Amino acid sequence: MINIAVLGYGTVGSGVVEVITTNKESIAKRIGDDINIKYVLDLREFPNSPIENILVHDFDTIVNDEEVDIVVEAMGGTNPAYSFAKASLEHGKSYCTSNKELVAKYGPELLKLSEKMNKNFLFEASVGGGIPIIRPLNQSLTADEIMEITGILNGTTNYIMTKMSKEGLDFDTVLKEAQELGYAERNPEADVEGYDACRKIAILTSLAYGQHVDYEDIYTEGITKITDIDFKYAAKLGKVIKLFGKSRRAGDKFFAMVAPFMIDDNNPLYSVNGVLNGILVKGNVLGDVMFYGSGAGKLPTASAVVSDVVDAAKHKNTHIMQIWSSKKLELSDIADAKSRFFVRISGSADMKMEEIADHFGDVKPVSVDGVTGEFAFVTQVMSEAEFEKAAEATEGIITRIRME
Ligand code: HSE
Repeated sequence: MINIAVLGYGTVGSGVVEVITTNKESIAKRIGDDINIKYVLDLREFPNSPIENILVHDFDTIVNDEEVDIVVEAMGGTNPAYSFAKASLEHGKSYCTSNKELVAKYGPELLKLSEKMNKNFLFEASVGGGIPIIRPLNQSLTADEIMEITGILNGTTNYIMTKMSKEGLDFDTVLKEAQELGYAERNPEADVEGYDACRKIAILTSLAYGQHVDYEDIYTEGITKITDIDFKYAAKLGKVIKLFGKSRRAGDKFFAMVAPFMIDDNNPLYSVNGVLNGILVKGNVLGDVMFYGSGAGKLPTASAVVSDVVDAAKHKNTHIMQIWSSKKLELSDIADAKSRFFVRISGSADMKMEEIADHFGDVKPVSVDGVTGEFAFVTQVMSEAEFEKAAEATEGIITRIRME
């Protein structure tokens, strides 16, 4: 019998209980042993619920119970999750978590501790919700040097951008709708400012290169400045706008950023819509491989957590190697990163094209019916530094979006 304890009975924690209850027999077959939820920890009471008799309020009950093999955490945040993770591993229990803040910040330390204890620290659900991406990076894409990872890593913002793109709605209207539907948090800052995607690309990049990427080093831009007018121009150009978490290796340099990008249908991520996530990985021998599916939500996220539980149960006394050292991966300044830029500028093309050409070189002007007092242009490929220099010298720039 494998005994587990679930920390947090919110959306994901209750999903874990539901998945294990629903698929108990098939999960037991895969593990080769029965699985039992011995405890659920939460500060709240849940009278008349299926967990009423296994609910505890004190973590010590769990950590001091030698029968508990695996601790599942679905609380989020680093406090008290970090001390719970450490204590669980120190007491010889594997720890499975959906908590990206915990993983992005303490991943290497907790992995090292799990190795020392010959247990496992697993976090499939921390990136891409139900999409398998952590295990494939660790166990499948091992013949390749990873050259590039590009992901739509946040379901909330992808829902907002898809609605804006397809229905011509403005940001505030769609955000309000996303909150009413329960996709976006009441405080949506972590999603719309790109912080959530930033932690996720930090985790993926750390695993891809085996060294720790500090998420605070990643240039991060959210979607709050994207307007319905940007989508009108994008449609004219045959493009959509997506929030990407991206990292790339160029020789011995590593770049990472989170920002909105304009893409067309040559990019496989073009059709990743709504709350779905997509992650495109480029290997030096494999080429492109894409992972696509439900990036958020109760049961998809719980499915990924329970897949970790199965892995931990199958490797009860074996540490599964994941290479993520605490040595920091130095990211290059994005000033050297190159792309084309879509730029909106006030005024008329007749008056301004000469000045624009002086600063930006050869550009392609764009206008859309019904948008007056401004126009847009698309630059050639240029570095961030070159773009900033040209933009500073040019009057009236309204916005710019990177373009693939
Ligand atoms: N807020 C996150 C999202 C939840 O919208 O993708 C999943 O990590």
